[in-house]
Amino acid sequence: MKAIAVEPGAGDPVLVDRPRPEPDAGHALVRTLRVGVDGTDHEVIAGHHGDLPAGADRLVLGHEAVGVVEDSNGTDLEDGQVVVPTVRRPPNGTNAYFERGEPDMAPEGEYVERGIVGAHGFMAEYFTSPSEFLVPIPKQLAALGFLVEPVSVSEKAIDHAVASRSAFEWEPDAALVLGNGSLGLLTLAMFDTVLEIDRTYCLGRRDRPDPTIDIIEKLGSTYIDSRQTPVDEIPGTYESIDLIYEATGYAKHAVETVEALAPNGVGVLLGVPGPWEFEIDGGRLHKELVLHNKALLGTVNSHRGHFEAAVDSLSQLPDWLFEELVTGVYGLEEFEAAFEQGNDVIKTAVEFDTL
Ligand code: NAP
Ligand code: BGC
Ligand code: ZN
Repeated sequence: MKAIAVEPGAGDPVLVDRPRPEPDAGHALVRTLRVGVDGTDHEVIAGHHGDLPAGADRLVLGHEAVGVVEDSNGTDLEDGQVVVPTVRRPPNGTNAYFERGEPDMAPEGEYVERGIVGAHGFMAEYFTSPSEFLVPIPKQLAALGFLVEPVSVSEKAIDHAVASRSAFEWEPDAALVLGNGSLGLLTLAMFDTVLEIDRTYCLGRRDRPDPTIDIIEKLGSTYIDSRQTPVDEIPGTYESIDLIYEATGYAKHAVETVEALAPNGVGVLLGVPGPWEFEIDGGRLHKELVLHNKALLGTVNSHRGHFEAAVDSLSQLPDWLFEELVTGVYGLEEFEAAFEQGNDVIKTAVEFDTL
């Protein structure tokens, strides 16, 4: 079967031939439909994040997949069911995090991530997985199923942000997304449409006309250009923000978020930046967090419950959003196009097969 693999940091993804996997007991065989590409894939390709599987010289890419059960192999799944795989797997059998159903909370060494850290991904015509890591989704969502994983990451982030404010009366009126990439825009749409937050903002660094700014404004949200209004100046120019979601991977934003928050606000950080040393006023940061009851959280990955919530959220988002957000779905003969980047590219996927 065909698969898309990369030697991280050493070149572009290439098409490789691999044997079609045979499902072990408790595993199902899945025929891959579509696999999405996100900022993390580009970081993996560049060799800035992730790791090869032990002994491998290339990594099969892909962690945002949707497929159809080809052989349920005696598991509780049914042949023909449309499923989305979760990303993390236990490295040696199992461990407490996986047994609790909280693989997203496992520390380094207690997980591998398919297509990212230490395990091959889903960009192959077929893959196998323990059935417990395959989440059934409605057939009518199959074409957009590759968006379930990224939305699940935001479900977790929002869950943790809300939980951190659960000890008191807290209702966010203003929310800000830092980053107009695919993760930022999907989350902005969730803030507007699913959470129905009154006033939403999204930060980028682009000139008009730009397709991401069009989406931001069509959602009824306000575009903020970080070149004109740095994050810490947002309260002065716009307003203080109750809920901030960082999806730029730009390390200064983590610190500036604290300044942009309203009293009792919470900032969730998703970006995975490389090393970057810069000066900060640590005293001011510390005092700001304390005297205004602010919270700053990091969050990564998601668990099965977040995937299930993501299916629900996705089904509430408007069709026009997907039409404008998904800028390209490419077959195997032109898979390279799915990895191209530019201001006219928002979200792409590779199509391995159709239902
Ligand atoms: P992406 O497509 O690279 O999006 C990042 C966006 O941020 C880009 O549109 C970029 O603008 C914008 N940006 C960067 N620096 C900026 C600045 N200084 N001011 C304004 N805008 C800025 O990536 P993505 O797929 O949406 O993911 C976003 C981040 O989340 C990545 O760092 C990724 O690694 C991370 N991530 C984390 C998790 C998790 O579980 N924690 C899950 C998925 C992704 P331009 O395009 O104009 O450069
Ligand atoms: C994936 C997550 C993963 C994270 C860190 C993200 O792009 O969506 O599932 O945990 O990268 O590797
Ligand atoms: Zn991702």
